[in-house]
Amino acid sequence: MLTTPTQGTLIGPRSSYCGEVTKAQAGQHVTLYGWVQRRRDHGGVIFVDVRDRTGLVQVVFNPQTDPAAHAVAEALRGEFVIGVKGLVEARPDGQANANLTSGEIEIFARELVILNPSKPTPFPIGDDTVDEMLRLQYRYLDLRSPKLQHCLTMRHKVTLAVREYLDNLGFLEIETPMLTKSTPEGARDYVVPSRVHPGEFFALPQSPQIFKQILMVGGYDRYFQIARCFRDEDLRADRQPEFTQIDIETSFLGQDDIMNINEELICQLLEKFASAEVVRPVQRMTYADAMDRYGSDKPDTRFGMELIDLNGPLAGSQFKVFAEAIANGGRVKALCVPKGADMSRAQIDQMTEFAKKFGAKGLAWVKVTTGTAADDANSKVVNYTVGEDSVTATFASTVMKFITADEAAAIGSATGARPGDLLLFAADRVEITREVLGRLRLKLGAELNMINPKAFNLLWVVDFPMFEWNTDEKRWDPLHHPFTSPLDSDMDKLESDPGNCRAKAYDLVLNGTELGGGSVRIHRRDIQNKVFQMLGLTDEEILNKFGFMLEAFEYGAPPHGGLAFGLDRLVMLLTGGTSIRDVIAFPKTQSATDLMVQAPSPIAARQLKELHIRTAAPQA
Ligand code: AMO
Ligand code: AMP
Repeated sequence: MLTTPTQGTLIGPRSSYCGEVTKAQAGQHVTLYGWVQRRRDHGGVIFVDVRDRTGLVQVVFNPQTDPAAHAVAEALRGEFVIGVKGLVEARPDGQANANLTSGEIEIFARELVILNPSKPTPFPIGDDTVDEMLRLQYRYLDLRSPKLQHCLTMRHKVTLAVREYLDNLGFLEIETPMLTKSTPEGARDYVVPSRVHPGEFFALPQSPQIFKQILMVGGYDRYFQIARCFRDEDLRADRQPEFTQIDIETSFLGQDDIMNINEELICQLLEKFASAEVVRPVQRMTYADAMDRYGSDKPDTRFGMELIDLNGPLAGSQFKVFAEAIANGGRVKALCVPKGADMSRAQIDQMTEFAKKFGAKGLAWVKVTTGTAADDANSKVVNYTVGEDSVTATFASTVMKFITADEAAAIGSATGARPGDLLLFAADRVEITREVLGRLRLKLGAELNMINPKAFNLLWVVDFPMFEWNTDEKRWDPLHHPFTSPLDSDMDKLESDPGNCRAKAYDLVLNGTELGGGSVRIHRRDIQNKVFQMLGLTDEEILNKFGFMLEAFEYGAPPHGGLAFGLDRLVMLLTGGTSIRDVIAFPKTQSATDLMVQAPSPIAARQLKELHIRTAAPQA
């Protein structure tokens, strides 16, 4: 026999979702479908928590009043999928469960069908301490957890709100191809072989960048798309090989107008879905400032502890480490860690090891303490001012023997150090001091609870450089992408001083995560051609890769610009999460595999032959 007698028989259409039955329905009959979360046998009466994508409801099986349903309920086990008809009743006084929407009622079952039993599950549903690899393999079970139900429902609502906002402003949603040609966004392409064109390949889009610009030439002056993008790059908690952008492009608007439309969208989403208090207009910071003050182009501005430049105060330093860095054109920068003077040597050593991972040669430190202990080799009493205040403190460290009292006073004033604080110094090439102290700042900010977990801090970073020097390949790479326009004021630097040529590019940063980025584009053939040349492309390469685009620019291409937000990152931040895998129904692992369907996987020899492909993969 293949099925039990009751199995598979539906009991009519659902009248309510489990998590949505409330006191308002008391006295009514409901029909529910869901999965058994838990069954408790209380001396005859059986209580079953039934779950669907909206939540839980408690169903009661009474052997006296409903013996038939009760008899079936005895067979219920975790994750059986069932249908229940029953009467909604208010729970007796004192037995309400305030944690559930349905917590004030319970359902007295009249009918029960087991639609399908379940094997014991490999992990308890909703237990996210279970190894994520196992949960990804059985994604359909993890999808039943309240956390993923919440995240995916939120994702749906956010997407809907985005469409509504943009539709109201006259944006058209237009789809662009998945089978296309390489789009230069800086990652490797996922490629698809062509069967009908032997030896030729499509690339999956890294973004719809080129197509959305061509749409502007085509006259669709307000475009958006909830667009799937593919990038073969190193993965992290906030990166997937396949992810979704809210992709936007407009014509006839300047940088400020584009930024305003986009920041209003994000502000509204934060207010609606995270009850956030956002400040308008969103603060703007130049890339140069962000790098200087936070050591990052996506600063987390929820807390201070900025990087302080000390080349001035330490210009004449006799301390070899500082003097050499300055003499070599590098920098000495410091972090002032509030109340950090209590840290043990072991903690400081740990920070030093952390700093070394990011290229530091060491991490000099000074404890700023109270008291006027007698000067000795390792400590000095220092008098200085911080703003209006006069401060007297003892600077203690093995490096104090190399630092004069005057230098210490200047360091004290520049860093605003107070007794109880810890100063951490990095002396090196400017990129290394920024990277090291920027990373330390984030680590300490989290560890010392300097971040208000409820805060939503938006920040525009603007005036990015056009190019960055690729030391390995000895050429300029675009910092954003090659279609970004230089600032009008820097146009003359495009060729003469590319390293200092800034772009009309902007990133929107939320709590230290890059939520989106975009730019005003080049819409003139001559300038676009020049940028390609600056990037080291030959005329032939330019024509092969981008000839159609350059030609399109000669047929009345309007001035245009836009931006793309990472939808996954946005929903992750709105749900207070830390991994974008939690807001994607079927994400890939850190090594770009799908553990459930076991992809990627080898394909049959016949299929390879058809595609004119011979693989050189090592035999397993
Ligand atoms: P960019 O490459 O900055 O710009 O991408 C825009 C936003 O997409 C998100 N994002 C990702 N999210 C998850 N996983 C990834 N691997 C990933 N890569 C990027 C980020 C990022 O801010 N065409 C341009 C946009 C434009 O100029 O209009 C572009 O793609 O949140
Ligand atoms: P040393 O002279 O190498 O023994 O270093 C003396 C102190 O300076 C130690 O605390 C080192 O960790 C620190 N130090 C060494 N190199 C650097 C550097 N490049 N930047 C900051 N501190 C450093």
